[in-house]
Amino acid sequence: MSSSKTSLSFFLVFTLLSTLCFEIEPAFDYYILATHWTPTFCRFNPCIPNASIGLLIHGLWPSNITGYQPQYCNRADKFDYQNVVSLEPKLSNQWPDLLRSSSQQFWADQWDKHGTCSGLSQFDYFDKALKVFESISPMTGLYRIPTPAYRPGNWFIPINLVNDWEHQYGYFPKITCSFDHRGRYELFFELHYNVSVAWNPTDGKLQPQSIINVRDRNSCWRNTVYFPN
Ligand SMILES: *[C@@H]1O[C@H](CO)[C@@H](O)[C@H](O)[C@H]1NC(C)=O
Ligand SMILES: *[C@@H]1O[C@H](CO)[C@@H](O)[C@H](O)[C@H]1NC(C)=O
Ligand SMILES: *[C@@H]1O[C@H](CO)[C@@H](O)[C@H](O)[C@H]1NC(C)=O
Repeated sequence: MSSSKTSLSFFLVFTLLSTLCFEIEPAFDYYILATHWTPTFCRFNPCIPNASIGLLIHGLWPSNITGYQPQYCNRADKFDYQNVVSLEPKLSNQWPDLLRSSSQQFWADQWDKHGTCSGLSQFDYFDKALKVFESISPMTGLYRIPTPAYRPGNWFIPINLVNDWEHQYGYFPKITCSFDHRGRYELFFELHYNVSVAWNPTDGKLQPQSIINVRDRNSCWRNTVYFPN
């Protein structure tokens, strides 16, 4: 065998192995629970008329400390609704598809892109996301902060919301915003929570160390942003 053939076979074997390893052992250090304020999403997307209103689940995303998020780790592991049917109606209430009257395609997409990298079974992945979400309860948490500006229909200063959240709960999410169609002003969009992979949700309770502070509190550009209703 010539040396170029040898190195080609080494290269192929190496590529094959690293593909296999990646599918089996995804590289992540924590989860990001992304919640979105659905009226902001629906300003930019063709939502169904009865789309739920709230700070609801967008996804649970395995993430590496480098900032990298592994995706599509096992395309063969297709989402099967039967695996999560016992989580209805919680899933429909807390993780609804805003574009379609049935949410199953949204869950399938999130499973495919992020869930297959979580190291969890389909049931455990969705169950964990629901338990983290219920422990944080972003909407209730937000409304416990008495500042009138943090209510739909008002303008507020994003970094103040994050700091007030920390003052109230001892940890803080990251806030994200979205520019309106003409780029004139920004809308409050998402709150992202950094969740420890070590959290074992046996009793559904969140230990204080389970929510880690995010690196960047604020990814909004403007000093003042609008909270759409
Ligand atoms: C995170 O990514 C880095 C660089 O790719 C990798 O070396 C590390 O093993 C990953 N972390 C985990 C927990 O796998
Ligand atoms: C919206 O209406 C459709 C069709 O009636 C129904 O299947 C769906 O569950 C409704 N969604 C919400 C969030 O109420
Ligand atoms: C989440 O927490 C980990 C552990 O403290 C940290 O390394 C990581 O940067 C945090 N992720 C983000 C997006 O802030």
